[in-house]
Amino acid sequence: METTRQDGIPEVLGSIRMRDLMADPYATLAGIREATPAFAIENNGYRMWAITRYHDVRKALSDPTVLRDLVENRHAINSHCIVREMPRAHLPHGSRRSFFDRDGENHHRLRSLVGNVFTPTRLAELRPRVERLANELLDTLPVGEPVDLAAAFARPVSGTIICELLGILPDEQNMLAASESEMITSPIISEIEKAVGELHAFAMKLADDKRENPGDDLSTRLLRLHEDAKMSEDELISTYILIMVGGMEPSSAIGNGAFALLTNPGQLAKVLADPELFTECVSEVVRYESPFRFVPPRYTSAPLELDGVTIPAGELLLISPAAANRDPERFDEPDVFDVERNTSGHLGFGHGVHRCLGSELGKIETATALRTLFQRFPDTRLVDPPEQARWRPGKFMRRLDTLPVILR
Ligand code: HEM
Repeated sequence: METTRQDGIPEVLGSIRMRDLMADPYATLAGIREATPAFAIENNGYRMWAITRYHDVRKALSDPTVLRDLVENRHAINSHCIVREMPRAHLPHGSRRSFFDRDGENHHRLRSLVGNVFTPTRLAELRPRVERLANELLDTLPVGEPVDLAAAFARPVSGTIICELLGILPDEQNMLAASESEMITSPIISEIEKAVGELHAFAMKLADDKRENPGDDLSTRLLRLHEDAKMSEDELISTYILIMVGGMEPSSAIGNGAFALLTNPGQLAKVLADPELFTECVSEVVRYESPFRFVPPRYTSAPLELDGVTIPAGELLLISPAAANRDPERFDEPDVFDVERNTSGHLGFGHGVHRCLGSELGKIETATALRTLFQRFPDTRLVDPPEQARWRPGKFMRRLDTLPVILR
């Protein structure tokens, strides 16, 4: 279905249908990876180039001319890449000014301010907290009858930990988890707008609360940086949103990890026999079932050369860690879940300057939650056949909507 514009750039070569991605993302992504280094597709009315090969994904994510700040660059991008008029999400400006949406100096300045919060000492303190929390949650669950592990375990583990770090009351956790999920996994524009609006309003209220009642928490420390003129109001509010949303991400890895272990009983037996492997296996979980099928779009500010194909400047990119992590050129038998695999170089936490800031926290939460769960209930099984697993919709994230199991 290739169409070409006057300037010689293909309009689009095809599309990735959500139905196919939901049914079997890896077959769909492998089809693209084998066919071409860069596949121009239509996504929400925009032409975007899907990049799926391991070396190209690494290259694109570390190229300083590949940019994230689509707000600043929107005028250059808009007319150029629109292939079809479609309704666009209108999001509050102040929701997209954190370092995740910035490049160069601004990214570096803001990320360094937050970066020193996740120190090894703080992280070491969190491990026993996560274990206690996981046990408390498991104490409340029924044994021997169906229970949804995504709702009753994976989400509350991540939600509680990030709320405690930010100094957010525990009863706000459900709203946070629901808005975060809609924001990053809903394919419906009105739902995304509503969720981002709620998170933005919540972050504004959080700043007000911390002004009145400062605490020994990350929100108060970030507020102080704003008061010392180190970050603007929009930067503060969007950093709150970023940390809330990023902080929920281990819930994907806990769900995906539990699912991978339950569908590979031989691998579960191995980690139970050698519990040190629970820590190691988190890297294999985020390689094998990468929560990010695609990272949020990038923009080329200069031509980008990939494996003999040149993507011109001014184009949008859809870069896929999930496809790269299953590239047979990089990993032997990539479609096999192997908890003893050497996963070095996997891209499950991204790559380059935007590589995950919370990866150590994410690993601690995921490993501790999985270890606590399976050591207490080693004979747990799925309620439904694996093919009936219910994944969240949306092209970007690979996250279970529900995970019905019987704990044993
Ligand atoms: C197992 C859990 C996690 C996974 C798989 C994960 C994955 C990722 C990935 C792939 C990226 C790169 C996105 C891109 O390049 O566009 C990223 C960025 C980020 N993550 Fe995580 N993440 C996890 C946990 C966390 C946690 C617990 C936090 C902490 C609050 C966090 C905070 C962030 C932040 C702030 C960024 C943006 C970094 C930047 O732009 O410089 N993540 N994450």
